Amino acid sequence: MNPSKFAVKPVAPDRLPDLLRRMPKAELHMHIEGSLEPELIFAMARRNAVQFAFPDVDSLRRAYVFDSLQSFLDIYHQGTMVLKTEQDFYDMTHAYLKRAASDNVLHAEIFFDTQTHTAHGLDSGVVINGLHRACGNAQALFGMTASLILCFLRHLSEDEAFEALEQALPYRDRIVGIGLASSEMGHPPEKFAKVFARCRELGFRLVAHAGEEGPPAYIWSALDVLKVERIDHGVQAFKDAALMQRLAKDKIPLTVCPLSNLKLCVFKNLSDHNLGGMLDAGIVATVNSDDPAYFGGYINENFTQTFAALGLTAQHAYMLARNSFEASFMDASLRRNCIDRLNSVFESFH
Ligand code: HPA
Ligand code: ZN
Repeated sequence: MNPSKFAVKPVAPDRLPDLLRRMPKAELHMHIEGSLEPELIFAMARRNAVQFAFPDVDSLRRAYVFDSLQSFLDIYHQGTMVLKTEQDFYDMTHAYLKRAASDNVLHAEIFFDTQTHTAHGLDSGVVINGLHRACGNAQALFGMTASLILCFLRHLSEDEAFEALEQALPYRDRIVGIGLASSEMGHPPEKFAKVFARCRELGFRLVAHAGEEGPPAYIWSALDVLKVERIDHGVQAFKDAALMQRLAKDKIPLTVCPLSNLKLCVFKNLSDHNLGGMLDAGIVATVNSDDPAYFGGYINENFTQTFAALGLTAQHAYMLARNSFEASFMDASLRRNCIDRLNSVFESFH
């Protein structure tokens, strides 16, 4: 069904936050290490006897003031140092899934990387097994599904990405897709052309961060060189009219993360964000939390704050939730079920 065929009834602005919270949705762009709340960081530091750079939860939270992607990645990396055991990866993922389910997330596609953790002396299997076990329990515990996307770190070399791929291949069946994350500027997608071609041959679904801070040229090369199916962020596409047309024509989903963009100073104010403009230009945009423990909110907070700042409507809400299911890598019958549930919430909302 064409989303525009579903008749969305108008909703008064004061009722919109309730609809946004209640509507079923998929989350397609979140880094599991970015869901580690300070309390969990300190609990893991204690149980793993890791000396942590900040004395307590409050001082760590106070440090969450960023002026760029890199300033965030530096602190985010410190948080990852407390992760040592399979149980740590399980607990981190379990906590995220529980929180996401309370936001009516029916399906999550979770980014993780192994390179951060193998550099700390862990085996890739420790990471993947912990994450996978938590995802496998999501249906029974929280009534949702979850799958895993392995991201290569773009500040490292392509050879190192090949090495990470090699180490992950024994767990091939636990990984739905491959992504590209970390410091964008100076590390264009084409740096990873060969390893993405190999991943494509292996049957992985492909995505990449592009146009978060980097230029539209990075979005073009993610599409044309890496041949990704979705673009993570992509908000810089607005600077290139031909690219906007391409994204709309080919229905390339963008996994947009408004509170992340605000915290990392991609937009000065949330009211400057181009999410509404993207939707109005016919682009398949979605809303996501990126690193919710660091950026001031989980997915519903991204929805409610962005809708308030931009004056978006119930029609936009439906489009965004619908897009999240259409853009996901879930199988067709699950997708149908999710969209039916979405439609029934919109039909019965008064
Ligand atoms: N951008 C790029 N890489 C990342 C991010 C992000 O927002 N979060 C974690 N890794
Ligand atoms: Zn991201």
